[in-house]
Amino acid sequence: MNEFSKDNLIDILEDDSKNDWLFSLADTVRKEHVGDEVHLRGLIEFSNICKCQCKYCGLRSENREIERYRISEDNIVSYAKHASEMGYRTVVLQSGEDKFFDADVMCRIISRIKDLDVALTLSIGERSFDEYKAFKASGADRYLIRIETTDKNLYEKMHPNMDFNNRIRCLEDLKTLGFEVGTGCLVGLPEQTVESLAEDILFFKEIDADMVGIGPFIPHPQTPLNSCEHGSFTLALKVMALTRILLKNINIPATTAMETLNPNGRIIALQSGANVVMPNVTTSEYREKYEIYPNKICIHEEPDKCRNCIEAKIHSIGRTISKDCGFRLKNK
Ligand code: 5AD
Ligand code: FES
Repeated sequence: MNEFSKDNLIDILEDDSKNDWLFSLADTVRKEHVGDEVHLRGLIEFSNICKCQCKYCGLRSENREIERYRISEDNIVSYAKHASEMGYRTVVLQSGEDKFFDADVMCRIISRIKDLDVALTLSIGERSFDEYKAFKASGADRYLIRIETTDKNLYEKMHPNMDFNNRIRCLEDLKTLGFEVGTGCLVGLPEQTVESLAEDILFFKEIDADMVGIGPFIPHPQTPLNSCEHGSFTLALKVMALTRILLKNINIPATTAMETLNPNGRIIALQSGANVVMPNVTTSEYREKYEIYPNKICIHEEPDKCRNCIEAKIHSIGRTISKDCGFRLKNK
């Protein structure tokens, strides 16, 4: 019943009459395979400097209107320390594709954070096999790099000067090196088809992704896609629910982009297949500058406030906060 073909997936994505059934099936599969615990990951957006020109992203190098920043090595480590003191068991380091943070710098930061006894996830874009290998040797546990879309034509339109095959190469290298690998897609990119979303879901299964993050596209005013429609919250939720049903025991975040489109978006996602939330743990001075898309949530909040807020919301739906690092549960 849970082995959907591509045609089944397309039918479900196109038909909104059975959404309640779909979300509740995903919730059941989530409960059965990963339980009621929610894993919180403390997110540090440590640089918004980026050499890429992704058409949808506010951090693209051609956006001259945003104020760029890099957090110093010592401050990154102190945000991680504070995250661990607040109870986070995973720290996620995310940035634009910023060459300043080369393998040497990253490896120093990774080793210092690993001394804090937390799991460490990196989300810093496309690197060489050797750099990934060095990150792993320094102690990094996981790596996030969304495929964004498996439609190669659309991928290449959305990502000038980037190569779809290199993206795949990154995912393969990370798997080979023993990282837990996270990927995912945007939902609602211009010209994206429901058929390609079905292929995205099958791709997550084919590469045996350990984590999958899915979010609606939200147009940013200082990008070439500024006049496009935003993606549908419900469609993004459906792609996420189907991913849970097919991949079963993986980790799936309730993404911030979902909450940007729906004030209760993360809780709805947690009740439709998700089991992870990634609150920001930097102070507010950086949050508004990491403007991938507009109206990001919590940009004026401080780390302790977000932690308490999300804990209360999670408890209010009868779920608990995990005290362990939240690696993927294998073979269950
Ligand atoms: N809307 C929604 N999500 C976006 N991302 C980048 N730009 C946007 C946007 N305009 C997502 C990408 C990237 C992740 C860090 O943020 O999927 O992988
Ligand atoms: Fe930041 Fe609710 S998660 S205030």
